[in-house]
Amino acid sequence: MKLLITGGGGFVGARLARTLLARGQLAGRTIDRLVLTDITPPPADLLADTRVEARTGTLLSQAPALQGEDFDGVFHLASAVSGECELDFELGLRSNLDSTRALLDALRARTAAGGPVPRLVFSSSVAVFGPDPAFAWPGIVADDTLPAPQTSYGTHKLMCEYLIADYTRKGFLDGRSARLMTVTVRPGRPNGAASGFFSGIIREPLAGIVSACPVDAGVSHPMSSPSQTVDGLIRVYEATREQLGGRLALNLPALNVRVADMLDALEEVAGSQVRALVRFERDERIAGIVANWPSGATAARAARLGLAPCRQFADIIREYIADCRAAPNAAQALKGIQ
Ligand SMILES: NC(=O)c1ccc[n+]([C@@H]2O[C@H](COP(=O)([O-])OP(=O)(O)OC[C@H]3O[C@@H](n4cnc5c(N)ncnc54)[C@H](O)[C@@H]3O)[C@@H](O)[C@H]2O)c1
Repeated sequence: MKLLITGGGGFVGARLARTLLARGQLAGRTIDRLVLTDITPPPADLLADTRVEARTGTLLSQAPALQGEDFDGVFHLASAVSGECELDFELGLRSNLDSTRALLDALRARTAAGGPVPRLVFSSSVAVFGPDPAFAWPGIVADDTLPAPQTSYGTHKLMCEYLIADYTRKGFLDGRSARLMTVTVRPGRPNGAASGFFSGIIREPLAGIVSACPVDAGVSHPMSSPSQTVDGLIRVYEATREQLGGRLALNLPALNVRVADMLDALEEVAGSQVRALVRFERDERIAGIVANWPSGATAARAARLGLAPCRQFADIIREYIADCRAAPNAAQALKGIQ
């Protein structure tokens, strides 16, 4: 089978690609070709795999050519992140909404020309949820909580969910949207996401670097590990329509955890001197954004697909440490615990 991952050079996309290549199959079919599109090229280990073809450039520029190709499956992950979209309204519209529409229309054109109906998994986000004065805000959001995004990013994600549901209803593709929880611990440098500190307060201290936490210790948020997120995307891909039970988006499993619990877990895994590297320095801009985010999530539909959340945050930290140890920059990334 031939698969496409948009955003295949990114954090989740590259990890998804590695997992798929290691499995060698998806939904019972052998993966012969894996096309990775992104603005940035994928990591070298992926480029070295003969099944991988990397295409570099914006999705908007690449989408028209895709209508000349048969794809059995698509994971659509390319996206500008929340902070970027707030800073640059046009960039957000182009990267998240226009690009998705162009991708869906390329797939639709191919289907209309007699190609296979591709299965598509879209990485939506818990950012589709938010408070609205018209309704009581549950804080803990469920599959059937009314989305009310409070950012451009969340708005685009919700619009794409609905577009994908409608293209699916029309038979142009077989689409599924999975709402990712905040994926921690993100390796490397901080990105433009307003949620970036949830990784920063773990990643930086483990590297021996002081980290500023911009919100109070009592702030709670739904999290997932990278591996569980990738497992969730694959399971959503492999589910039958009957198992999904509908066309609308579903929440991926979340571990609902407070900043204070995260830091307790950091101390448990890495010691009190590492925890002490986290300083509380309230940032009103970030704290204001976070105040409009869910404090937790449930995922009943994902549970029916056999997906479960991480049991405890310490497991997420241990996963990050194991990943670092397997990567070339282990010494730098784990300087705080050596
Ligand atoms: N990481 C999280 O916590 C989280 C939470 C909720 C949802 N998501 C969603 O999951 C997906 C993957 O997230 P991630 O953490 O890997 O993000 P990421 O930023 O690491 O990866 C996204 C990739 O998309 C690429 N990209 C951005 N704009 C593009 C464009 N116009 N054309 C082509 N490529 C473009 C970027 O270069 C990047 O490599 C995204 O859709 C994101 O919105 C992530």
